[in-house]
Amino acid sequence: MKNLWIIANWKSNKSIGEALDWVSQVGPKLIESENVKVVVCPTFSCLSEVSKAVKVGGYPLIVGSQDLSPFSAGAYTGEESASLIREFVTVSILGHSERRQNFSETDEMVEKKVAQALENNIIPLVCVQGEETPVPSNCKLIAYEPVFAIGSGTPDTPDNADKVAASLKEKNGSDLEVLYGGSANSENCKGFLQRDNINGLLIGKASLDPEEFVRIIEVAQTL
Ligand code: PGA
Repeated sequence: MKNLWIIANWKSNKSIGEALDWVSQVGPKLIESENVKVVVCPTFSCLSEVSKAVKVGGYPLIVGSQDLSPFSAGAYTGEESASLIREFVTVSILGHSERRQNFSETDEMVEKKVAQALENNIIPLVCVQGEETPVPSNCKLIAYEPVFAIGSGTPDTPDNADKVAASLKEKNGSDLEVLYGGSANSENCKGFLQRDNINGLLIGKASLDPEEFVRIIEVAQTL
């Protein structure tokens, strides 16, 4: 059975109160599963409270960050270094197209962030915008997220996403796990999750609503 990652990317949304409310609604609905891994990536300011709530509730929910610093801890004002957030996070989304576009993040910076994540036992999840985006050599989990599909309500087709995922695996190694992201929701998720080369979904907007997110997890658990 292939691994299926269902990952919530909250982006710059949810206060601590709203985050805890989401966890209290989603957490109790999750069941331990060998192959379906559910991850939530809150803002940095919610990480501590969310990870505490997950622990206290004993929920099978993995916590991740949406970014981390390319530097180790030290004189880097405003940055969140991997060594400081490792106590809260297992996974880190790196190189999201919104960071590349709005914060001038380059492939070189993404590579440094991947190195920081790995040094601190955090799984790097690198977002690639197409087949041409470089995948750092030691990164084994990526998300194919075509820019046109993000937040637009117009996802890529499962056929094309599967094709791109296959070619990314061919280029970077068959042990690479490739997720799809971009306007995924409970209605269209099955089409992506069923494809041979797709190992899950990175979900923005549809992950903000706890009920909608749970519906997506339920679909993954039936496959
Ligand atoms: P979306 O965002 O699901 O709102 O399109 C996905 C993402 O940017 O990771």
